[in-house]
Amino acid sequence: MKNIVVLISGNGSNLQAIIDACENKKISGTIRAVFSNRADAFGLERAREANIPAHTLLASQFASREAFDRELMQEIDAYAPDVVVLAGFMRILSADFVAHYAGRLLNIHPSLLPKYPGLHTHRQVLENGDEVHGTSVHFVTDELDGGPVILQAQVPVFAGDSEEDVTARVQTQEHAIYPLVVGWFLDGRLVMQDNSAWLDGVRLPAQGYAAD
Ligand code: GAR
Repeated sequence: MKNIVVLISGNGSNLQAIIDACENKKISGTIRAVFSNRADAFGLERAREANIPAHTLLASQFASREAFDRELMQEIDAYAPDVVVLAGFMRILSADFVAHYAGRLLNIHPSLLPKYPGLHTHRQVLENGDEVHGTSVHFVTDELDGGPVILQAQVPVFAGDSEEDVTARVQTQEHAIYPLVVGWFLDGRLVMQDNSAWLDGVRLPAQGYAAD
């Protein structure tokens, strides 16, 4: 069985979707551990509920980003991960961390990348009057939210939508596409090569896999 390690900072609804997909055998893998950089992350409860070891590492206990990441890497590697899944992990990772897990480090970002890297994506979509929004699963590289996109899901934005409305609509899609991509990866169908994502031997376009 392939080993999954998930990093979170908050609610952990994407973590939950991946837990459920493992239990339902939609992903051929086991979540070996969950790490959070916040002690109050609800996702830690979700992990414990599913009998998954749940760890917290606080940045305040380390002298530098590099020291934090070194310890995190050491603890993650004790679980021999085939894939490391960032699921709402709201911390920038050092170049050494990214290099260490290159090609097996996935992230989900709540926008149609390359639009809106960084924070407050839903707010920006509303402020700009966009009619289409969405979410992207991508390989992580040194460029913040800039690694090759694997799969995106689009959602409409309606007049009068609040930030909560848009967030909920996007997250519903996230819970469908993230487990799907983790499954592809663990089945050996998905690789990162030449700064592109490849699925079943086909180089994916900049916006990731398109069904049509
Ligand atoms: C998700 O919507 C994810 O796309 C976003 O945080 C949320 C976490 O929700 N990630 C980022 O903004 C990363 N830059 P969750 O804790 O319920 O899975």
